[in-house]
Amino acid sequence: MDFKSGIDTARLPQHVAIIMDGNGRWAKAHGKPRVFGHRNGVRSVKAVTEAAAELGIPYLTLYAFSTENWNRPSREVNALMQLLVRTIRRELRTLQDNDIRLHTIGDTSRLPVQTANSLQEAIAATRNHQRMTLTLALNYSARQEMTRAARMIAHAASEGKLDPAHLDEAAVADFLYTSTMPDPELLIRTSGEFRISNFLLWQIAYAELYFTPVMWPDFGKDQFHEAIRDYQRRERRFGKTSEQLMTH
Ligand code: FPP
Repeated sequence: MDFKSGIDTARLPQHVAIIMDGNGRWAKAHGKPRVFGHRNGVRSVKAVTEAAAELGIPYLTLYAFSTENWNRPSREVNALMQLLVRTIRRELRTLQDNDIRLHTIGDTSRLPVQTANSLQEAIAATRNHQRMTLTLALNYSARQEMTRAARMIAHAASEGKLDPAHLDEAAVADFLYTSTMPDPELLIRTSGEFRISNFLLWQIAYAELYFTPVMWPDFGKDQFHEAIRDYQRRERRFGKTSEQLMTH
């Protein structure tokens, strides 16, 4: 039990995924350009990463850039990509000092060269870290991920490397970007929107969903702790009755 936060550290979600939303509206409310919201959003990324690592949550996944985000004005897309590069360079030391491994999911081959390079550097430099895996979903779309998996499965079957009759759920999961991670047990979305927006559709089959009106730049350690406490107040049934759960 972590008495300061009121969190039972023996019942933590092993994987928390977050849809970071509301940077633009937060900036507008402050009379500032959208990029100002993203810059402050980075502070929340830092606070939440620290909070998750301190509690002992082994996997944290953040939706940083969707395949649809390319449709934003190019000025904003460029600013986001630059922010990513700068943040990774600036925070690499922090990741190393705190034994955090950086990982990405999504089609990173489409990212600008400089962004892809700095990501690769940080991923390589943190590859052996054990305390927590911080995954950034970049140019990510769940339907794209599942289509890619279907393509790879069909290809393997056509080459005789995979028997369609033996394809089960675990085998499908092996073809997803998340093959090395447990499924998220908690999905958080900020800014008062009640959508999944094409994020981890396969993986959140049993996740608890937590929606908060707080805009991402205002989502810090306290708000993260509240989401975990809310998760711990819920009963996870997996389709079973309460009586069945009591006997286990
Ligand atoms: C959603 O707010 C936020 C994003 C699309 C980008 C999130 C990116 C960051 C916080 C910076 C990335 C940096 C790292 C290190 C991961 P929005 O722009 O959709 O806000 P709105 O819905 O109010 O317009």
